[in-house]
Amino acid sequence: MSILEVKGLYKNFGKSEVLKNIDLSLEKGETLAIIGPSGSGKSTLLRCINCLERAEKGTIILDGNTIAEEVAGVTQYLKDEELTQARLHLGMVFQNFNLFPHLNVLQNLTLAPMSVDKKPKEQAESEALDLLGKVGLRDRADAYPCELSGGQGQRVAIARALAMDPDILCFDEPTSALDPELTGEVLQVIKELAAEHMTMLIVTPEMGFAKEVANSVVFMDEGRVLERGTPGELLVNPKEERIKAFLNKLLSV
Ligand SMILES: Nc1ncnc2c1ncn2[C@@H]1O[C@H](COP(=O)(O)OP(=O)(O)OP(=O)(O)O)[C@@H](O)[C@H]1O
Ligand SMILES: [Mg+2]
Repeated sequence: MSILEVKGLYKNFGKSEVLKNIDLSLEKGETLAIIGPSGSGKSTLLRCINCLERAEKGTIILDGNTIAEEVAGVTQYLKDEELTQARLHLGMVFQNFNLFPHLNVLQNLTLAPMSVDKKPKEQAESEALDLLGKVGLRDRADAYPCELSGGQGQRVAIARALAMDPDILCFDEPTSALDPELTGEVLQVIKELAAEHMTMLIVTPEMGFAKEVANSVVFMDEGRVLERGTPGELLVNPKEERIKAFLNKLLSV
């Protein structure tokens, strides 16, 4: 069974329909890249999957657990406490890192494991240091977020998400706030996670990266999934004219 199944998802903001009948599934160990023009609903889809936004219609099943279910045309979510537990299966990395500015790097990593998972401080710190080693920042454990470069900040944000041992890691344009010379170090960390078969959902404008790292690519347009395929199919030889035009435009910039 898929680790994530989204069926018939609709999301409105006021009168505007932002997601229209989205079906999406993700297999364990798969890296799925979501691409598409600005305003097509990519961030909203990730936010709905993470329950940061609530959908009007549709069903979301995470790891066999139905967290949102359409009943008589309306989506009903799990109760708050159950939803909080279910959401622990998901990690989220945002464009702007969202680190806690008043906590140092180590504290950023240990806060949730200690408060939510009730891990002893020593264990949380030792695991956090291992994760910092994994993203090449073990020596910055005492630094505060304002003392880090953008690339370092984003690598800390990835380590913080990993500290909760999520089943799926979601990224929303993880390199878009970075200077071009800093994107490589963040993409490298994500590539290594993909090689370890971490299950990931990545919204990215970096087509080269999507081609290299994703098993599967979804193209969204105007709130719909227009096409899904392997990077070789969708990014090289898409069926839809709309996608060809999008890719050609990127190439001509
Ligand atoms: N909180 C909100 N309130 C009202 N409208 C919103 C809200 N969030 C997003 N929208 C609208 O929903 C549509 C989809 O936005 P979304 O941010 O999901 O697009 P996107 O594909 O992530 O775009 P980008 O590539 O620019 O990040 C847009 O028209 C946007 O203006
Ligand atoms: Mg977005």
